[in-house]
Amino acid sequence: MMILVLGSGAREHALIRSLCTEDAGHTVVAAPGNAGIASDVETVPLDPCDPNQVVAFAIERAVELVIVGPEAPLVAGVADAVRAAGIPVFGPDASAAQLEGSKTYAKRIMDAAGVPTGRAILAADIDAARTAIDEFGAPYVVKADGLAAGKGVLVTEDREAALAHVTHWLPHGSVLVEEFLTGPEVSLFFVSDGESVRALAPAQDFKRLGDDDLGPNTGGMGAYSPLPWLDELFGSEQAFVTEVTDTVALPTVRQMAAEHTPFIGLLYCGLILTPQGVRVIEFNARFGDPETQVVLPRLVTPLSTVLLAAATGTLSELPALAFSPLVAVTVVLASEGYPESPVTGRPITGLGEAAAVPGVSVLHAGTGLQPNDELVSAGGRVLSVVALGKDFGSARSRVYEAVSQIGFTGAQYRTDIAAGAGTGTGTK
Ligand code: AMP
Ligand code: GLY
Repeated sequence: MMILVLGSGAREHALIRSLCTEDAGHTVVAAPGNAGIASDVETVPLDPCDPNQVVAFAIERAVELVIVGPEAPLVAGVADAVRAAGIPVFGPDASAAQLEGSKTYAKRIMDAAGVPTGRAILAADIDAARTAIDEFGAPYVVKADGLAAGKGVLVTEDREAALAHVTHWLPHGSVLVEEFLTGPEVSLFFVSDGESVRALAPAQDFKRLGDDDLGPNTGGMGAYSPLPWLDELFGSEQAFVTEVTDTVALPTVRQMAAEHTPFIGLLYCGLILTPQGVRVIEFNARFGDPETQVVLPRLVTPLSTVLLAAATGTLSELPALAFSPLVAVTVVLASEGYPESPVTGRPITGLGEAAAVPGVSVLHAGTGLQPNDELVSAGGRVLSVVALGKDFGSARSRVYEAVSQIGFTGAQYRTDIAAGAGTGTGTK
């Protein structure tokens, strides 16, 4: 199959690695990709957010499946345009991508579908926000309504900081003040064809920059899958997945279908397992990064089969998805200064040595080539190192052995990814 993948992160690199390992022998093209993706497949300098460019390229190259990685092209209507051109596309239309693009929209859908989530008040001015902040009390949770590149959510004990966050985001639209929820977090991905869904394996993301969940929120510094501790909480992973399918994913997809905005793509459910039960803290309309890097290597069913079935409305005809019993751990290497002001242009060494560690793959995110072909850092999150192993002890030692081979000045990474995976409820 001729497949076009839109995006340029480690998530897209993981998607492409999975597609390239399939027996079917696909031709994969990435737009725009990155330096690492370019060493695996052809990359083209298309603007992934320009519907006309994407459609013209897909027609010219007889693309049979377009996979949209990030949220920006979805919100820009790229999936709408590709679908309108009669080409199968994995990714929702702009109207359905509001599930991620607008927290107010997501809350309304959840409300209508009876999906469990935190109580929230939408505030359009500072007085309403102050009243809501004082009603819920500390810790305060304040969220920007629209896409905010991971910077829109503040969880703080400091009332003044909560109010400052409101003041910062109000010019961009309303803010949500939400009740604070406690419990371990789980990311569960569902592939949806607009009517039915298929769950992938649960994963846990580490959002804070530093060890022990200290420091600022980031796009995600690491992840692991599966989550053995779900057995203690739900009896089995399958029981957990069934509960989330029945109480979150299916009601959401059905509600969206009923509103004529069917959700075709990846429904990312960000969940907190509170003492009162599972609550949704966020939906995304795309694969999560870095969770994808640990979820996809454990998917045994060919990825292209699953995504094409979703894109063509035939998901219910697929046999049950198969997963590997191996465990996966990924560690993100980020630039000095990330997330506030990443310093880029730093030469990167040791990738060959890292990739030679058994069970390890090195995925690129913010990397680039200098005119002399030297590999340098070119973004906030630079690399995702992924290791598979028979248990967390082996996957962790492999991933950190590989990380220790990689050098670039000022690299930041967490040393505790999946440290609590085998016991308790992760680190959160
Ligand atoms: P989000 O971008 O919505 O995933 O939020 C970023 C992080 O903020 C989440 O991963 C949680 O750790 C935290 N968070 C979001 N909403 C809440 C909430 N209602 N209660 C506690 N923590 C939250
Ligand atoms: N890992 C969080 C996200 O992709 O939004």
